[in-house]
Amino acid sequence: MSTHIEAKPGEYAETVLLPGDPLRAKYIAETFLEDVKQVNRVRNAFGYTGTYKGHRISVQGSGMGIPSMSIYINELVREYGVKTIIRVGSCGGMAPDVHVRDVLLASGSTTDSAVTANTFGPGIHYAPLADFKLLDSAYHVAKDLDINVKVGDIFAADRFYNDEIDMQKLADYGILGTEMESAGLYLLGAKLHFKALSVLTVSDLIFGDEKATAEERERTFNDMIKISLETAIQ
Ligand code: HPA
Repeated sequence: MSTHIEAKPGEYAETVLLPGDPLRAKYIAETFLEDVKQVNRVRNAFGYTGTYKGHRISVQGSGMGIPSMSIYINELVREYGVKTIIRVGSCGGMAPDVHVRDVLLASGSTTDSAVTANTFGPGIHYAPLADFKLLDSAYHVAKDLDINVKVGDIFAADRFYNDEIDMQKLADYGILGTEMESAGLYLLGAKLHFKALSVLTVSDLIFGDEKATAEERERTFNDMIKISLETAIQ
């Protein structure tokens, strides 16, 4: 066990899908994996290991934001030997051609979080990037599954409620959407030498009020999980 995870050594697969919401981890495990075993219950940050098409895969809830997610990533990689982490999350759409239910692949992640500055000190504005092989695989898997995806920069905000930030300017500079984790995931991928990718569904729009029905949201969520699982076993 580690500080926040009770699993025994070897109970996580080398590849982990990482949703923010622990109940989504439960849904993914129960819907898409076989021979599932729950490996973590600590703080209700549920973790599961099972198989997908014969390959061992784990799913772990990370909580919201870089601070919570970083705890689980550090322990998964340092204590359980995890080598690949695919975040499966939601985001607010920002670019004019991004709509509710789109699936986005974060090739990079801009942030106002202090984690990059704390790592490199003043003057260096590190650009957290996805693992290119994972990104390339996910893009082609999505094309093969006939699921439309957009690839680009995602703004990982330190705060969900952040009236101070000029979101329009970020959109003008090509940011596709916003969530609260991807930059931290990619920074840790570089630091701890694991492969990282964020796959996101657009759940709402920052500059509009387009809404998806519950059924549409579920279908898009399932598309995102299919892309992520097929990428995980490439
Ligand atoms: N910010 C805004 N909208 C969102 C987010 C977020 O972090 N996640 C999902 N929709």
